Amino acid sequence: MRAIQVSRHGGPDVLEFVELPDPTPKPGEILVRVAAIGVNFIDTYQRAGIYAMQLPYIPGSEGAGVVVAVGDGVESPSPGQRVAWCDAAGSYAELVTMPAHVAVAVPDAVSDEVAASALLQGMTAHYLLDGSSHPKPGDTVLIHAGAGGVGLVLTQIAKAKGIRVITTVSNDTKEALSRDAGADEVLRYGDDLADRVRALTGGVGVAVAYDGVGADTIDQSIAATAVRGTVVLFGAASGPVPPFDLQRLNAAGSLSITRPKLGDFIADPNERAWRAGDVMTGISSGTVNVHVGHSYRLAEAGRAHTELEARATTGSVVLLPIS
Ligand SMILES: NC(=O)c1ccc[n+]([C@@H]2O[C@H](COP(=O)([O-])OP(=O)(O)OC[C@H]3O[C@@H](n4cnc5c(N)ncnc54)[C@H](OP(=O)(O)O)[C@@H]3O)[C@@H](O)[C@H]2O)c1
Repeated sequence: MRAIQVSRHGGPDVLEFVELPDPTPKPGEILVRVAAIGVNFIDTYQRAGIYAMQLPYIPGSEGAGVVVAVGDGVESPSPGQRVAWCDAAGSYAELVTMPAHVAVAVPDAVSDEVAASALLQGMTAHYLLDGSSHPKPGDTVLIHAGAGGVGLVLTQIAKAKGIRVITTVSNDTKEALSRDAGADEVLRYGDDLADRVRALTGGVGVAVAYDGVGADTIDQSIAATAVRGTVVLFGAASGPVPPFDLQRLNAAGSLSITRPKLGDFIADPNERAWRAGDVMTGISSGTVNVHVGHSYRLAEAGRAHTELEARATTGSVVLLPIS
């Protein structure tokens, strides 16, 4: 098969397009022919070595495709079935194996590109709103990077729950996308962001600030959050947040802060099935529109990473294993 391989940590140039032996499914696993691959910000952290990986490795964890073989003991899914997944290591490839239980059935109405980029960002949005925090209808929340992959889906699910949404974006194109997703107010970043958020909330601040940008935004996220509110730091697109004096949470109004990851909110099979089912149903029914902003050939994975890291993408990014 053809795949992307990383043999040393570094910039996008370490993503090499290579020929590798076809994988075979072990007992309990399925083998999938990949139709589309979801590119996520975590793929760039792993490539750069921010999260150290065992080298060499095939990047990626998300995609959609068709089951071509199953290992011993697998009853479902069966060969020929369309599936999507968000936690199969080595997904930047034409073929990938994974434990059968991580595969999610894809409804006919959902395209390969959408299915390939729906689960990781969609289930993240799902647990951010119902897991790591619990905003209520009528609450106001702040969502950074509102036109990004997670940001667009998070905005739509929040709006469907009756929550008022304020987002941040870096340019007019992204502002238009964020508004289309339902954002009530769209702001630019800046040192006075918290003041502008407070002006939009009667001086109170937001119930929850969702911060996947990290180093550049965390101070404004804390300053924009209401007394007894929650800051959910879920990523580090601008770099990791430095060590933090917890006393700041007292001074800011008895805030809570959490640093969650998706894996902890889908480890239980029933919880995974609930979140994945809601995401796929939301897409099929039109409540959630996954905006696939960019598709690249698998061989162009380096370009995809360059553009994602340069803030040049909107919505989801996919790779297609075509020549
Ligand atoms: N913890 C979890 O469970 C979990 C799961 C999935 C994703 N995440 C995190 O969620 C965040 C969003 O992921 P995504 O895949 O959907 O990416 P994305 O939001 O599509 O891309 C990142 C966006 O962050 C904004 N940004 C602000 N400052 C930036 C900087 N210095 N460099 C790069 N981008 C910057 C950019 O939007 P603007 O140009 O509008 O600012 C950029 O488009 C990432 O931090 C990711 O690690 C966490």
